[in-house]
Amino acid sequence: MLKTFYITTPIYYVNDVPHIGHAYTTIAADVLARYHRQWGHDVFFLTGLDEHGQKVQQAAEKAGIDPQAYCNRLAPKFQTLWKRLNISNDAFIRTTDPTHKAYVQKTLQALYDKDLIYRADYTGWYCTFDERFWTEKDVVDGLCPDCKRPVERLSESNYFFRMGRYQERLVTYIQDHPGFIQPQSRSNEVLGFLRKPLEDLSISRPKSRLSWGIELPFDAGYVTYVWFDALVNYVSALHYLTPKPSFDKYWTTHSTETASDRTVMHLVGKDILTTHAVYWSTILMALEHALPTTLFAHGWWTVNGEKMSKSRGNVVDPNAIVDEFGVDAFRYFLLREVPFGQDGDFSKDAMIGRINSELANDLGNLLSRSLTMIERFANGAVPAHAPAADTEMETRLRKTINGLFASAERHITNLEFNRALETVWELVQLGNQYIDKSAPWTLAKKAEDKARLDTVLYHGAETLRILGLALYPFMPQTAQEMVRQLGLTVDLSNPAADELNWGYLKPGTRIAKGDPLFPRIETAAKPQGDTRVTQDQQPAPPQTDQITIEDFRKVSLRIGKVIAAERVPKSTKLLKLQVDIGAEQRQIVAGIAAKYAPEDMVGKRVVIVANLKPAKLMGVESQGMVLAAGDDEVSALLTTVEDVPPGSKIK
Ligand code: MSP
Repeated sequence: MLKTFYITTPIYYVNDVPHIGHAYTTIAADVLARYHRQWGHDVFFLTGLDEHGQKVQQAAEKAGIDPQAYCNRLAPKFQTLWKRLNISNDAFIRTTDPTHKAYVQKTLQALYDKDLIYRADYTGWYCTFDERFWTEKDVVDGLCPDCKRPVERLSESNYFFRMGRYQERLVTYIQDHPGFIQPQSRSNEVLGFLRKPLEDLSISRPKSRLSWGIELPFDAGYVTYVWFDALVNYVSALHYLTPKPSFDKYWTTHSTETASDRTVMHLVGKDILTTHAVYWSTILMALEHALPTTLFAHGWWTVNGEKMSKSRGNVVDPNAIVDEFGVDAFRYFLLREVPFGQDGDFSKDAMIGRINSELANDLGNLLSRSLTMIERFANGAVPAHAPAADTEMETRLRKTINGLFASAERHITNLEFNRALETVWELVQLGNQYIDKSAPWTLAKKAEDKARLDTVLYHGAETLRILGLALYPFMPQTAQEMVRQLGLTVDLSNPAADELNWGYLKPGTRIAKGDPLFPRIETAAKPQGDTRVTQDQQPAPPQTDQITIEDFRKVSLRIGKVIAAERVPKSTKLLKLQVDIGAEQRQIVAGIAAKYAPEDMVGKRVVIVANLKPAKLMGVESQGMVLAAGDDEVSALLTTVEDVPPGSKIK
């Protein structure tokens, strides 16, 4: 039987424009939807808007317009952002849709008819801001425990859903289904909440207090509590939205059918866990529907270490981030930076750090260098893999690739997006090391190394194609661009079975190298005092360390060829080199003897500083300096990838 996967985001209040928190859940849901589609599952991905209730009514009043007109004005802000972020939702629900309203009324009537909704008088402490009652023990010093605003004593007649009746059943269900509420710590939190007696839930608001809502079908003096209206969206959408989904197809059942055939997954933020885990679960029980397979509560983002809020003026607008860094860098950052489920901190510094190191340097570089070499050494067409030329390196690369999809699946099933990406990056890094070690530029020099060269170039290209498939759910545009540059016209959203296997890329495919995937972002040095360091970033150098381009131009760097080398007597560190720099020959003393023997050096191309004032080292004149990498010890000499004549300038 075809597996179905029904994935939802919360429906967002339209009281303001979307922010990073909204984008976060929606991107995570999109990754899951794209991933499951790639594996051939029947996916229904729903997002939308929660348009009723006090918050929206107040925002509309403030704007001086009717609430429906206000919702209609704000809804496109969400829809346009989802398009920009490449969100592949199948449907978009708005709770003011007439069919949703009718469905909510039908549901209320059914529960009322079964006496699961009743009318009662209630007296309690009411918080106007949070639009809810608190009990005596919740209220301290006359203040709302949530927003700390004064509460007032209010007596009201309302309709109640018999939620308390389902308490034991819910506790047992959660205990019997360890994967239902995730992460595990959240499941424990809900069980903790359920240790106190569960009261019935007021599901109405008198119109005198709040008029913007769905009218109760059995009492025109009331509207429905916004959370009842909102939660029902997960089911009402399956009854009327297009493309026509169906409740019977996507919702799980109580039957013996294995849960894995039909998955229903709600992603929510940690602040709305109780409403989902307790209110929604008990409503579903009352309606005799099965509970969702998974309810996952993710963490919250702070911004530069601070809580995000309108009053602080630090609300992150996803549009601005996309303008500055691009869609895929944003999608990547949100899912790579923190484990889904934990809180995280958003900062441009952290984002730039990841873009420069992981996206530009690791991934972008792997693509551009692989394609450049296919252009140079194979006339722009993917060469053939010659199995006879395989070494242990190819075996290792293919082994890592073979294990990639299995570990990605494990992590994505557990909603460990960061770990899935880490696994992909292990392959990106292995690909880069593979090229470094195989050194195609050296293989290209000798005709007898042709089979080996072709094998290395093929492995580089095929690794990139597989990376494109694995990255597609996270960065759809980038992944599609990667395979386009490899010369393929495949659609990564729905790969054919043979595309998942090694060897799909056919020799002879003409590559189409394009722009770099992620240009490095140059950052200006920061003023002292704001040099926060993220895991991957070094602090910006202090201002005084910087030189201008004019300063740099003063240094004359040239390629030299070592024609003779000997040790400097009584020195363990110094070699005396005779270096051909084109127009002349120089004697240069270099501190590289611990790493290189004189005979290693003869014939080597080196990079030298040609206009350095001559100096004596251990009594021997040095007319320049050889460049090498390493901190205290020399670890590698600088040289060039291609063979260039001695004396060539370095710019
Ligand atoms: N309308 C309700 C949901 C009803 S679902 C049946 C609602 N809407 S909301 O717009 O206020 O919040 C939507 C989501 O945004 C919540 O999941 C919330 O956790 C999330 N976030 C709000 N601020 C956030 C951060 N700073 N970081 C991450 N997510 C955050 O609640």
